[in-house]
Amino acid sequence: MPTPANDPTPHADRLAGRTVVVTGAARGVGRAIAEECARQRARLVLCDVLEDLGRETAAAIGKSGVQVRFAPVDLAEPQSITAFAASVAQEEGCIHGLVNNAAIATLVGGAAFEDIDLGLWDRVMTVNVRGTPPV
Ligand SMILES: NC(=O)c1ccc[n+]([C@@H]2O[C@H](COP(=O)([O-])OP(=O)(O)OC[C@H]3O[C@@H](n4cnc5c(N)ncnc54)[C@H](O)[C@@H]3O)[C@@H](O)[C@H]2O)c1
Repeated sequence: MPTPANDPTPHADRLAGRTVVVTGAARGVGRAIAEECARQRARLVLCDVLEDLGRETAAAIGKSGVQVRFAPVDLAEPQSITAFAASVAQEEGCIHGLVNNAAIATLVGGAAFEDIDLGLWDRVMTVNVRGTPPV
């Protein structure tokens, strides 16, 4: 079994024929991961709570010729996750990779503990802790 270091497959084709789901793909790290997967020719399913930006990102990545679709998903809403999973099962059938990247990250990381109010604490726990395993 080749490792990434000795895999003879050309780098650009390593994900050809594979389907990868990236959560939180509208921007930031998730978008960068999606762009790299597209460079490696993966078929992509992107999701995010930011619907307009997510659709823009998917459209931009789709210009490279890979198959990509966007689905709005709110990790704070269990039924939203369930509906997304059902749509992937129906449309993609199976997936080969899941990048569980979505989280409340911006303006949270690095904040002093005493500066995090209870409302923000609850939102972070709801999305980052409760929201990611069901995906
Ligand atoms: N940027 C860093 O230096 C860094 C360092 C360590 C870990 N990370 C991790 O990388 C991941 C991405 O971080 P980032 O820096 O790109 O932050 P970001 O805020 O730019 O991206 C996070 C994405 O998650 C989405 N998201 C937030 N809440 C959501 C919800 N309820 N449902 C669906 N999507 C939701 C946002 O809309 C956004 O597109 C996070 O898991 C973060 O913890 C980032």
